Amino acid sequence: MDAENDTDAQQVTGCPVTGKAGCQLDAVSLIDPEISAHPNAFYRALRTEDPVHYDEKLGMWLVSRYKDIVALLRDPETFSDKHGYEAQYASGYFEEFREILEREGGGFFPDVIKSDPPEHTRVRKLMDGAFTAHRVKTLEPGITRIIVDLVEKIAAKAANGEVVDGVDEFAVPLTIAVICEQLGLEHYNATKIQRWSSAVTAQIGRMQNREQMIENARQICELQNFIIGQVRDREANPREDMISDLVHARTADGGKLGFAEVVSLVRALVIAGNETTATAIGNLLFVLATQPEQARLLHENIDDDRYVTRFVEELLRIAPPVRGLAKMTTRETELGGQKLPKGAHMLVLYASGNDDETQFECPAKFDLNRGNIGLHVAFGVGIHRCIGASLARMEIKVAAREIVKRLDNIRLAVAVEEIPYLPTVATHSIAHLPLTFTRRR
Ligand code: HEM
Repeated sequence: MDAENDTDAQQVTGCPVTGKAGCQLDAVSLIDPEISAHPNAFYRALRTEDPVHYDEKLGMWLVSRYKDIVALLRDPETFSDKHGYEAQYASGYFEEFREILEREGGGFFPDVIKSDPPEHTRVRKLMDGAFTAHRVKTLEPGITRIIVDLVEKIAAKAANGEVVDGVDEFAVPLTIAVICEQLGLEHYNATKIQRWSSAVTAQIGRMQNREQMIENARQICELQNFIIGQVRDREANPREDMISDLVHARTADGGKLGFAEVVSLVRALVIAGNETTATAIGNLLFVLATQPEQARLLHENIDDDRYVTRFVEELLRIAPPVRGLAKMTTRETELGGQKLPKGAHMLVLYASGNDDETQFECPAKFDLNRGNIGLHVAFGVGIHRCIGASLARMEIKVAAREIVKRLDNIRLAVAVEEIPYLPTVATHSIAHLPLTFTRRR
């Protein structure tokens, strides 16, 4: 989304990274706030100058080219998800973080889905059935109802001349409502869930200080205590919901998931099911607000399912919510011509893969006519590929449809440079999106 702006900056002043003259890749980092918020020129510099680049400040190897990303993700034995994730988690404060969770949050529950085979295979097989394309199709009417209610709410607010925050008032409540319904969480507090989600995501974001870590740990304690109550309830009183399914499921070896495993999986679903999709829907609104021609065309073609599907795929390519996740080498190896020692901490830049000009022609262009539109890596590749991809696609598609059917003249209420992004290397998320619009007649 920023790529066109970044390209302009590059043309004016020459530097591929910041737009300023005379800088070097080694002098900057993905965690520099300016780069983190507007990263595309940095990604391009990585891909052309040093595709597997050691980011000194971050202490990680950045993997930026599409083909290296795919090769890495297809080799989970050499590039361990478990070790990469653990080394990333609460980075710099892990022991203190763990103590807080053990003291106040019912325990420290390692993320069982962020593991390697065979542990991963055992859990993943159980989860794979949860959001098949077929099952997600049956959820469409319910999801549409949730979305229409929210669109009507923001339309009424805008009709009073008020500015609407597309993230806080639409994208976040939407995705929280959908995942809570799936899990069977009836009485939830959306504001709390949003706070809890940000606190968990911050643990892989690498941009929190100690004070923030302590506050985030307290939020995660609250989240865990909430989940523990729900799991205990389903142990005693099973219902037709996903928490009950996890509590009572049989694994392929005939066993059951342990209590800590269930808590960690519910936590993963609450967070993964909401943060990433909310980011995608924030990005959808951003594109509609900043590219009125795309909004017009989408409205014209709204009953063409193929068109809307392609729109969603191109949105996920050009603005992938997940920017970078960690892996770690289990042996000496080589990637993209770079020799790597055992224990090298890698950050897979899915967002740079989607922006790779050797894979996607004119990557900064929102182009529904690409021959390879679905080949983006926004959901990952290989054994850890996103479990919720079909659900996320459905949510974005229904949101796109119901928004353009009901709302017109969607515009940013502030200058594009004033849009704030969350400080994290894990996602590229708009924090607030002030919008104005009218109701379509
Ligand atoms: C647009 C929305 C979403 C995006 C962009 C996204 C992206 C991703 C990515 C990039 C991965 C990691 C792949 C890897 O390790 O290489 C992932 C994994 C995962 N996602 Fe999503 N996701 C989204 C929505 C969801 C939803 C709605 C759910 C749940 C309902 C979900 C649940 C998960 C889980 C549990 C994993 C871990 C899978 C594993 O390690 O085996 N995601 N997602």
